[in-house]
Amino acid sequence: MDWGMKNRLSKIIRPETGRTVMLAVDHGYFLGPTTGLQSPGKTVEPLIPYADTLMLTRGVLRSCVDAATNIPIVLRVSGGTSILGNLADEGTTVSMKDALRLNVAGVALSIFVGSELERKTLLALADLVNEAEEFGVPVLAVTAVGKDMVRDARYLGLACRIAAELGAHLVKTYYCDDFEKVVRNCPVPVVIAGGKKIPEKEAIELSYNAVTRGAVGVDMGRNIFQSDNPVSMIRTVREIVHKDLKPAQAWDMFTTLAHENKEKAFA
Ligand code: 5RP
Repeated sequence: MDWGMKNRLSKIIRPETGRTVMLAVDHGYFLGPTTGLQSPGKTVEPLIPYADTLMLTRGVLRSCVDAATNIPIVLRVSGGTSILGNLADEGTTVSMKDALRLNVAGVALSIFVGSELERKTLLALADLVNEAEEFGVPVLAVTAVGKDMVRDARYLGLACRIAAELGAHLVKTYYCDDFEKVVRNCPVPVVIAGGKKIPEKEAIELSYNAVTRGAVGVDMGRNIFQSDNPVSMIRTVREIVHKDLKPAQAWDMFTTLAHENKEKAFA
């Protein structure tokens, strides 16, 4: 692996712990004005100090994030569909040249294994890896799941392994029963998405289970920015990811911080 690739990867996965807290705020690329992200700049600003990377689209990066902000960016470079259409029919939306101009630490693209467009999305991943390798840019493959797909270890394991085989440097998937198997069968680091908003106590347990069962961290969105206490939530998730804080202590930490900070939910 060349120096540039290693250097960028070390900006995503912290070398001190081998873990990462990625803050995902790319949802608008197919969901439009997602709850909590109506003003993405306002939402992310207080969270950035506690995130290792920010995952978002080119448009939101350029228009809502101060260029002087010192946070590594994982840029979503796939899209072209909306919640109203066929989500699997994505294409690559950002050139490598523009990604580099935006000084990214990595690029992200979704694959839709099991969909009728599986081949197209997998070949798009392979093409992206080919291009990214040329410039030393890590690729995060997002194992997207359709509404009718079971999120079990067999399916997610299949999607993660294929992503790694095609050259992804990092894979994002969902937590599931037998998650250890998914991680064991995937030769590159795995992070989990948080999924739909669930009570904070459950999101804390989810984060703990994921990292203690082999994930290198989280690439979490809604369970942070849709919390009534987003800063308390990301600070707590950070302690879990980087210090293996146990769920009971993490819940104490969250409730204490939430009480002290009396945060306002984002409108
Ligand atoms: C969409 C994504 C999102 O970034 C991902 O779903 C993470 O966010 P959340 O924790 O809200 O699920 O990649 O495809």
